Amino acid sequence: MLADAPLGRSHRAAVGKAKLKEAIDLTREILNVPADYRIGIVPASDTGAVEMALWSLLGARGVDMVAWESFGEGWVTDVVKQLKLKANVHVAPYGEIVDFAKVNFDNDVVFTWNGTTSGVRLPNAEVIPADRQGLTICDATSAAFAMELDWAKLDVVTFSWQKVLGGEGAHGMLILSPRAVERLESYVPAWPLPKIFRLTSKGKLIEGIFVGETINTPSMLAVEDYLVALKWAKSVGGLAGLVGRAQANAQVVWDFCAANAWLVNLAVDPATASTTSVCVKFNDARIADGEAFAKAVAKRLEKAGVALDVGAYRDAPAGLRIWCGSTVETSDVQALMPWIAHAFYAEIAEIAKAA
Ligand SMILES: Cc1ncc(COP(=O)(O)O)c(C=O)c1O
Repeated sequence: MLADAPLGRSHRAAVGKAKLKEAIDLTREILNVPADYRIGIVPASDTGAVEMALWSLLGARGVDMVAWESFGEGWVTDVVKQLKLKANVHVAPYGEIVDFAKVNFDNDVVFTWNGTTSGVRLPNAEVIPADRQGLTICDATSAAFAMELDWAKLDVVTFSWQKVLGGEGAHGMLILSPRAVERLESYVPAWPLPKIFRLTSKGKLIEGIFVGETINTPSMLAVEDYLVALKWAKSVGGLAGLVGRAQANAQVVWDFCAANAWLVNLAVDPATASTTSVCVKFNDARIADGEAFAKAVAKRLEKAGVALDVGAYRDAPAGLRIWCGSTVETSDVQALMPWIAHAFYAEIAEIAKAA
């Protein structure tokens, strides 16, 4: 699959530029991004894309920051502590979601579509008014390619190649609505912007970024890998196929939780339950140290060669995080479930033995 990759060539050569443009075009096609939205490949993965947007756009009007897990909270820290903006901060604990009725969409609003570390997502974009005055800036890294994104309600959308499509780490995608571009061209932030964040030159959008003329040198190996992933995505039915695969995977875990009272979805409201980063916690009176128990289960699964990296994120409540994204085969999620039961009962037996 790499035979055609322009490795060792300049990304500014025609062949390199064509690959970068193809990545943008296929992204647009699969995600149904409107023709008047810009799509750029930017440095530093999803974090790079989000921070470019925050640093370039915010400060023109009030800001509402919305978070319900650690990545969203990271953006709150950026805006409140680093940019020092007086934002209205709306935070919900792990497992819950913020009441969007309290969010002021006449301000700029920053939120994460799918909270990767809590497994709580926005079910749809109904809470976002079509006639908002502010911009909506959405970190969609664990949602894009697995969940429907309502473009009319979103002004900035970011994601990385390594999340739902399981590609190589490195680059981020920055998608801008015409209103976001208008802001970029009419507003200059009070703070300095490093070259790596600059989206405008002399008050005009740098259009080249959005046709594949990246700000700095990209990995053409990662680009080729993303192209392979995008073509695979098309082969499984495009966005509808991808969304359906994640949904079917998550359903396996949800059904398993429904059948086993000792395993509970961290998402309190099933309507908000993630279909990619499914987070579950153990619920059993015999467990005294929840964190040690969940870690022991995860370790047991890893040792058996069954599942890797399934422990909850370090800042999240103790439990497991089962990646159910679109690249995962449903049969693999099904095969995992009896192993979770096995590991759970084995660890419960350890507790009984120690008592
Ligand atoms: C919601 C969310 N935002 C941001 C990030 C950081 O992404 P990256 O490492 O691509 O910068 C992650 C990574 O898991 C994430 O899940």
